[in-house]
Amino acid sequence: MAEDVCFFSKDALIIKPPKKSPLVLRMVVLMFAMVCGVYICSICLKQINTHTKMVSVQVIDRPCHASRIEEWEIPYVHYPKPNTYSRDECKCNPVRFFAILSMQRSGSGWFETLLNSHINVSSNGEIFSAKDRRSNVSAIVKTLDKVYNLDWFSSASKNECSAAVGFKWMLNQGVMEHHQAIVEYFNRRGVSAIFLFRRNLLRRMISVLANSYDRDAKLLNGTHKSHVHSLDEAKILANYKPIINATLLISDLKQVEDTAAKALEYFSSTRHTILYYEDLVTNHTKLIDVQEFLRVPEMDLKSRQVKIHKGTLSNQVVNWDDVHKTLKGTQYESFLHADY
Ligand SMILES: *[C@@H]1O[C@H](CO)[C@@H](O)[C@H](O)[C@H]1NC(C)=O
Ligand SMILES: *[C@@H]1O[C@H](CO)[C@@H](O)[C@H](O)[C@H]1NC(C)=O
Ligand SMILES: *[C@@H]1O[C@H](CO)[C@@H](O)[C@H](O)[C@H]1NC(C)=O
Ligand SMILES: *[C@@H]1O[C@H](CO)[C@@H](O)[C@H](O)[C@H]1NC(C)=O
Ligand SMILES: *[C@@H]1O[C@H](CO)[C@@H](O)[C@H](O)[C@H]1NC(C)=O
Repeated sequence: MAEDVCFFSKDALIIKPPKKSPLVLRMVVLMFAMVCGVYICSICLKQINTHTKMVSVQVIDRPCHASRIEEWEIPYVHYPKPNTYSRDECKCNPVRFFAILSMQRSGSGWFETLLNSHINVSSNGEIFSAKDRRSNVSAIVKTLDKVYNLDWFSSASKNECSAAVGFKWMLNQGVMEHHQAIVEYFNRRGVSAIFLFRRNLLRRMISVLANSYDRDAKLLNGTHKSHVHSLDEAKILANYKPIINATLLISDLKQVEDTAAKALEYFSSTRHTILYYEDLVTNHTKLIDVQEFLRVPEMDLKSRQVKIHKGTLSNQVVNWDDVHKTLKGTQYESFLHADY
């Protein structure tokens, strides 16, 4: 072909050499350009697509920004999107996550009913009493995720307008065992811990013994109750007086004390507050402090629960003399006298 061109006109050769020869070449270039064009277009389209997707996600996420949130609070403020329902008109109400870390018979049941009397607080009970939910870290994380996504249903669920959501967790329900993973979770997801302890560990021990006796004896018409709502029921349960093993008493009290101290040490890096049952009973300001800690509007909190063991301790234990002798002169002597 090139030879043809040369043969026909030498002028043409200089002035318009590409007239015939590059026809195929042109076609090739054209095809190449088209392919390139289509390719570039497709990439552009893809980018535009992902770009718009990102934009649309941001559009859904963005509108929730509560006012009056202080700088330090930001990691603790959440806008959960439950899978099981829509938060509707409250979808932009900020939600705080909490966990009540406590021990059996320390007033946490009563404390929880107080919290749940607040219109914006959902505390979902002792969810880790079920062993399969705490058998390993992944089971624990799965359960926590469900609670804090507001997808956990209990009688306490207030759902769409909850401003603080949590549950109570006994230290012997996997908290101590898996403390590292739990602290990591709390810090990563912005969960605040509320420690609730009882100062008078002797009274706690009596309550533990009585409650475990009633688990078998079922004093209230054949049903076991850990918490009661009437004075009559409280009186019946308080009729039972345990015998306390005086030999083990000091070491038992010490063990409970050590567990509480260790838990505080483990969770020292989390946002937390420490409450004592005795203070909650005698000092109304403590409940206001709790609401402030949870950043929920202040309300008057109420519980229908009735205290089971009241009055002086000497009437509540069969072998009071042994107990008295054992604790007198020790660091635990004050437990013998204190109310609550
Ligand atoms: C964790 O525990 C759950 C529930 O008991 C179980 O189904 C699961 O297989 C366990 N996972 C691991 C990694 O052990
Ligand atoms: C508390 O709940 C009420 C009623 O459901 C709701 O109107 C209000 O916005 C909630 N407050 C907060 C702080 O979420
Ligand atoms: C036990 O049952 C009887 C009869 O049903 C009832 O009158 C009584 O109040 C019940 N007692 C308690 C402590 O629940
Ligand atoms: C107290 O506990 C110890 C150790 O378990 C036991 O040997 C002892 O018999 C118990 N004493 C009483 C009075 O039950
Ligand atoms: C009640 O608690 C508040 C803080 O929570 C404290 O400032 C106050 O001194 C307490 N009152 C009494 C009588 O202990």
